[in-house]
Amino acid sequence: MKKPHAKTYYVRGGKPLRGEVRVSGAKNAATKELVAALLADAPVTLHNVPEIGDVRVTLEMLAELGAKVSFENGTAVIDVRRLKTEKVAEAFSRKNRIPILLLGPLLHRFGKAMIPALGGCTIGARPIDFHLDALRKMGASIMCEKGFYVATAKKLKGAIIDLPFPSVGATENVMLAAVKAKGTTIIRNAAVEPEIMDLAVLLQAMGAIINLDVNRTWVIEGVDSLHGAEHCVIPDRIVAASFMVAAALTGGDVFVRDARQTDLLSFLNALRRVGVPFEAREDGIRVTAPKELQPVVIETDVHPGFMTDWQQPFVMLLTQAKGVSIVHETVYEDRFGYTDALVKMGAKIQLHSECLGGKPCRYINHDYRHSAVIVGPTPLKAAEIAIPDLRAGFSYLIAALIAKGKSKITGVEQIERGYEDVIGKLKSLGAEIEVK
Ligand code: UD1
Repeated sequence: MKKPHAKTYYVRGGKPLRGEVRVSGAKNAATKELVAALLADAPVTLHNVPEIGDVRVTLEMLAELGAKVSFENGTAVIDVRRLKTEKVAEAFSRKNRIPILLLGPLLHRFGKAMIPALGGCTIGARPIDFHLDALRKMGASIMCEKGFYVATAKKLKGAIIDLPFPSVGATENVMLAAVKAKGTTIIRNAAVEPEIMDLAVLLQAMGAIINLDVNRTWVIEGVDSLHGAEHCVIPDRIVAASFMVAAALTGGDVFVRDARQTDLLSFLNALRRVGVPFEAREDGIRVTAPKELQPVVIETDVHPGFMTDWQQPFVMLLTQAKGVSIVHETVYEDRFGYTDALVKMGAKIQLHSECLGGKPCRYINHDYRHSAVIVGPTPLKAAEIAIPDLRAGFSYLIAALIAKGKSKITGVEQIERGYEDVIGKLKSLGAEIEVK
């Protein structure tokens, strides 16, 4: 896989998107499943792996550890029988949040693991305290030394883990440690996202004993060894939702192949309430142009609620709804920074620190601007925009696709971390985009 160059997108707005687009495999499942391969004593083959930046970085990381890695036409084969080191190189520290998930698998393999601290050892935004507390409860000793988390454990043991919040990453981390730990691990108040379910399916295929019980509880009985397996990654429900919003807002007609209704239930409910027509079929979902968009009140939540990564494209949709909409972000304290650029393009969005439009969340009485009031419809004008993060990136693309004039978008490697061939796909639907 080639490394992406620093590029700029030039997007001329006003073209309706029409045709068919296929959703790639889910980034948030594939990257974790590549890590799970570290637990096997024979090669693991994954199909439908997206060709994106985060997969490339994860594969490079596994190769640096000594794994034999091949990746062609969406199929990755990982063979870790000759793993040579328990140390993840410092270069991987700020690229994504995958290194922290390697602690359990490397501890099983070497009794020791060294992971570069994600942006230094201080616990700031997007902390990893749940991860470290849980692994310590499972018998790991973890210290921070010269910018690395250094973990040791002769043998991880099962434990009862009560997560303070159903964190996706912490649930996955405990799972990856528990499948080969001595005894049973129970994760309460755990995350149950479809991507985690897919990881559990792979782990079971590798020989793990893993079960989802009632009330967000995973029960995992440790086994001595895991074998190789072949698995197909689920389609990316965030990419699917992004294309659906782009189709609706440009007044187009797009069949989003492989979008799965079961993974998109709460998103599709919101789409229906806002007035976007869609037809869900077994092989995908077709979205057509809405007559008029209605304002709605939305609250993000952990699965099966409205996913926080759908929030950014959905806010774009609400900028064109007739009236006042409210979006209450309850998963992250600071996920509306991207709206400043949309306001410059003509959107009317105001941010508030109160919990607006729903039940109070854990950010009540904090000064986090985590509620947005959006007034529409507002025509957007082209602008020069720099992308701050992955999901905001696709929203800026959508904004440019409906804006009057030609927009210039920089920082596009953020989008390419998570969206496979995004420009190729948008152009095949009729978008006018130049890449320089
Ligand atoms: C994953 C997804 C991301 C998605 C998020 C929530 C990947 C690669 N990324 O991120 O796209 O938006 O789930 O669905 O799968 N928290 C703590 N302490 C911890 C861990 C988390 O306080 O130790 C907090 C976070 O700050 C955040 C909340 O828990 O406010 C949820 O985070 P988490 O579910 O862990 O997100 P990620 O796994 O990082």
